[in-house]
Amino acid sequence: MIIKTLETDGFKNLSNVKLDFHRNLNVFFGENAQGKTNLIEVIWLCTGLKSFRGTKDRDFIGLEKEAFHTELCFEDKDRTQTISYNMSRNNLKEKAVFLNGVRLNSPSRLFSALNCVIFTPEDLELSKGSPENRRRFLDLSVSQIKRSYVGVVNKYDSIINQRNKLLKDISLGVSKKEDLEVWDEQLAKLGAYISVLRYAYTVKLNKVSSVLYSDITSGKEKLSLKLSSTVFENLEGRNDYGGEMYLEYLKKLRDKLDEDIRLGFTQIGVHRDDLVTYINGLPSREYGSQGQNRSVALVLKLSQAYILSEETKDSPVILLDDVLSELDTNRQEFVMSKIKNMQVFITCCEKNKINVLKDGSIFLVDGGVVKKIKRG
Ligand SMILES: Nc1ncnc2c1ncn2[C@@H]1O[C@H](COP(=O)(O)OP(=O)(O)OP(=O)(O)O)[C@@H](O)[C@H]1O
Ligand SMILES: [Mg+2]
Repeated sequence: MIIKTLETDGFKNLSNVKLDFHRNLNVFFGENAQGKTNLIEVIWLCTGLKSFRGTKDRDFIGLEKEAFHTELCFEDKDRTQTISYNMSRNNLKEKAVFLNGVRLNSPSRLFSALNCVIFTPEDLELSKGSPENRRRFLDLSVSQIKRSYVGVVNKYDSIINQRNKLLKDISLGVSKKEDLEVWDEQLAKLGAYISVLRYAYTVKLNKVSSVLYSDITSGKEKLSLKLSSTVFENLEGRNDYGGEMYLEYLKKLRDKLDEDIRLGFTQIGVHRDDLVTYINGLPSREYGSQGQNRSVALVLKLSQAYILSEETKDSPVILLDDVLSELDTNRQEFVMSKIKNMQVFITCCEKNKINVLKDGSIFLVDGGVVKKIKRG
């Protein structure tokens, strides 16, 4: 998949941007706070997903602007498509999003049109950081290959919040235990389904990432992954999420109910899942060095790109925001060699010279204005 052109105006500090891109490598270059990440962010929005840095809708629009407009043209394995994404200050709720001129009723309808994989400095903490980040990583990965999944996870999250509130109300005596029944049934249904999908993705991830990790360590270390669940001991071969798994989930919820009421939160469920990474059989989070954990994180993100590529039969666009400058030359070379057949966008600052960038186009970003300074 290749992004051919981008036109955008009024997105944060970006002003009157009109760019055509190199098929392989594109570098956004400039000083701090000039709009490099904003460019990556506006490309990312065209995938239909939320901002990767948690920007609220109203903050998309430039402070002095009334609206932002974006038009992105890309080529997938079959055809050329155009996404248009617009928002105006007087109607923040209604984003005007079009795919090939057809109005979509929500940006999420853009899913699986444009596929991107983004690497940010926070992703380098994926292996060392909190389980929540790894769950988010898994969920994003699954949703990129299964469109309906995002809705399932959002529903689960909202039910768990309502259940936790109800648990507190029960302990205060303002609600009854029976009130939980309908919530628990829904939780068990959604939770069993999420477990099956997360497990299936972990199996693929394990396969791809063990090869990549062996590569980055020249065969010296072995990486393996496991989905750890508070509900199911072993998920291998299990996919009856509407039957057996649902009943087991429900029973575990009920078994813990009295304790949950005392504690005021739900102790078991997919909101406590973790993706555990092992180097030579030992959990890397506890035993791994900083460098090993960074390599694991890089390999997980690269695997995400490879799996997406395999599933969609088309390579995703890779967005590297401030990541390369954080890596040593060996790891920079490793990453670049693994994505050399994909279109890549990289942000970099003048002071952080990156040695591995050779061919491709370079764009200077200065105060929200973007100019091509090298044609690839
Ligand atoms: N809603 C907005 N309206 C106008 N400007 C905004 C808005 N939101 C952010 N900005 C501006 O965007 C700039 C930051 O852009 P961005 O994060 O893309 O910088 P960057 O070039 O990636 O910098 P760094 O190298 O530090 O990562 C800041 O100057 C900020 O004031
Ligand atoms: Mg930035």
